Amino acid sequence: MGQTTAVPNDMQSWWMPFTANRQFKANPRLLVGAKGMYYTTHDGRQVIDGSAGLWCVNAGHCREPIVQAIQKQAAEMDFAPTFQMGHPKAFEFAARLAHLAPGDLNHVFFANSGSEAVDTALKIAIAYHRARGEGARTRLIGRERGYHGVGFGGISVGGIVSNRKVFGPMLAGVDHLPHTHSLKDMAFSKGLPEWGAHLADDLERIVALHDASTIAAVIVEPVAGSTGVLPPPKGYLQKLRAICDKHGILLIFDEVITGFGRTGKAFGAETFGVIPDMMTTAKGLTNAAVPAAAVFTRKHVHEAFMQGPEHMIELFHGYTYSAHALACAAGLATLDLYRDEGIFENAAALSGYWEDAVHSLKGMRNVIDIRNIGIMAAVELAPREGAPTKRGYDAFVQCFEQGLMCRLTGDTLALSPPLILTKAHIDEIFGILTKVLKEVD
Ligand SMILES: Cc1ncc(COP(=O)(O)O)c(C=O)c1O
Repeated sequence: MGQTTAVPNDMQSWWMPFTANRQFKANPRLLVGAKGMYYTTHDGRQVIDGSAGLWCVNAGHCREPIVQAIQKQAAEMDFAPTFQMGHPKAFEFAARLAHLAPGDLNHVFFANSGSEAVDTALKIAIAYHRARGEGARTRLIGRERGYHGVGFGGISVGGIVSNRKVFGPMLAGVDHLPHTHSLKDMAFSKGLPEWGAHLADDLERIVALHDASTIAAVIVEPVAGSTGVLPPPKGYLQKLRAICDKHGILLIFDEVITGFGRTGKAFGAETFGVIPDMMTTAKGLTNAAVPAAAVFTRKHVHEAFMQGPEHMIELFHGYTYSAHALACAAGLATLDLYRDEGIFENAAALSGYWEDAVHSLKGMRNVIDIRNIGIMAAVELAPREGAPTKRGYDAFVQCFEQGLMCRLTGDTLALSPPLILTKAHIDEIFGILTKVLKEVD
């Protein structure tokens, strides 16, 4: 046990996000420090970070070069407006990102969160068609079980019921593809499931219903993350790409989780060999050290806007903190680390060991599915009779108490540790999880 840190006296004022506030405050889990692969809790325990924070700290915690870059930037220039002004690091960061991205995803629009990136991409999609004289293309197609953040755009195309049902009618003109998971047809698949490519054909049904001339874009996560890690069926993304091409519909990949090495390459687009028209990213963009997001667009999307009188603003959109100086400094230092330490390559090299480790849980009590790709995985537990999500919650709390932080969604435990991990870390993560699964009834 290390040093302990006092629990705050008043925990009522902070209305916590995506948290069972009353339950949490009765038995708080407080984190007070982080280094590399580990968090330190307020009572001085070391907890291995099995979820890279929230799928975002890909290079590990409190990395010295990132810390220094942020400190230096904060002292040099804290903030610079980016409406009709600029600063060199924003251009440098965008250029480095464009270089990293596959194909001609060469233009980068900065925002501050995944949710903002998604809203930005959806707006660009609609405005793109209008700029090309197809202003009737306003419909947006998402997917059941999809997570695209919590803005009205994101929840409209998103497909997680509890994130939508209490927030009214949301955006008009949205439709959804079916999700790609079927326990019956693909349980315990290793990597990409063999079954399910045909589910992309549903886009043809949606096109037939609404007519292609009304549809602006399709947005999907290459691997659905927050709903519990659903890798795409083999050939599914290729089919979506082909149908979008056939009908002039933009394809957006939401790579907020899959971006920056999570699947073993810089982006899911590369891992799966499909280039979208736009890509939304956040999280690993700055190793989550400063909030930031980036929307990548292909050349044709950007060019559609670069028309008309040159003194005119081409896109009436942006955020006060777009390309924030601290974010750009942190992002540049992060990209250096990814490159210099071969962090994506480490993820790729360990993905086989990771797959074997997670699938070794097959056959344990209550485990009804295991899914994995790159360095992400999910272990789905059978819900308790009459108490869905309770078994998962108990396992999640037990994991934390025994030294493993993971994510919980329903009765599914999700794992996505920092990509600097070693085989010993993988053994530690699954050692704790195995013990917990034996204990939780
Ligand atoms: C695929 C995807 N899109 C968007 C978001 C929203 O990001 P943020 O929480 O930064 O708004 C998330 C967050 O987990 C995500 O996983």
